Amino acid sequence: MTHPRLHLNVDHVATLRQARREAFPDPVEWALAAESAGVDGITCHLRKDRRHIQDRDVVRLREQIQTLLNLESSLDPEMLAIATRSGAEAFCLVPENREEITTEGGLDVIAESDRLADAIPRLTEAGGAVSLFIDPDLKQIDQARELGAPFIELHTGGYAQARGPAKAAALERIQRASAHAAQIGLRVNAGHGLDYDNVAPIAALPEAEELNIGFAIVARSVFVGVTQAVEQMRQLLRQS
Ligand code: PXP
Repeated sequence: MTHPRLHLNVDHVATLRQARREAFPDPVEWALAAESAGVDGITCHLRKDRRHIQDRDVVRLREQIQTLLNLESSLDPEMLAIATRSGAEAFCLVPENREEITTEGGLDVIAESDRLADAIPRLTEAGGAVSLFIDPDLKQIDQARELGAPFIELHTGGYAQARGPAKAAALERIQRASAHAAQIGLRVNAGHGLDYDNVAPIAALPEAEELNIGFAIVARSVFVGVTQAVEQMRQLLRQS
């Protein structure tokens, strides 16, 4: 059995840059270093409020990276228009709320069915594989299948934050959701809140094709540099 691919989310390199509105650290340069260290793809989230990644970053990432670009986007019309022009190979549709510190919950695929039914074919036509970022909830997964999305990305944030016996329960929920998704023909990615201590059971999900990890790797790179930070995470994925 192979382990999931590692896709690195570079948003928080841009967060650091935007803290001073400087030209550095450059998320594109960091992404290229991460590629040299062996990541399989680069992910970024262009948020409506442009708090970290800027429009120009998306263009430069697509021009310069050698692996795949996975662009996270909300269903906002402006963001979808940018996504369709971006040349990204993958799109992950996420909910977005201006006040949140990071993406809080998964998409409500049932409530958003109409907008998704419009966005999924548009993004597919633009050349990217679409995934829906959702909580490990079987009803949401069934609806993702109904809407024709090829991929889901299971939200692992609840698992990452759970403590004590709740952690095992949260993991079990993800395991069940992942198996169910694969059984009904969906391809499975996972991400959010994954770090060096909690990634192993998620990397061991037999259905998981790709893990999207950002904050923990960017944070570790402050101490050990991007090459080691990536290599340590790749090692954990290989061992899973
Ligand atoms: N996957 C999705 C859909 C996300 O929105 C994010 C955060 O931008 C991540 C993965 C990565 O989360 P983290 O930075 O906590 O690793």
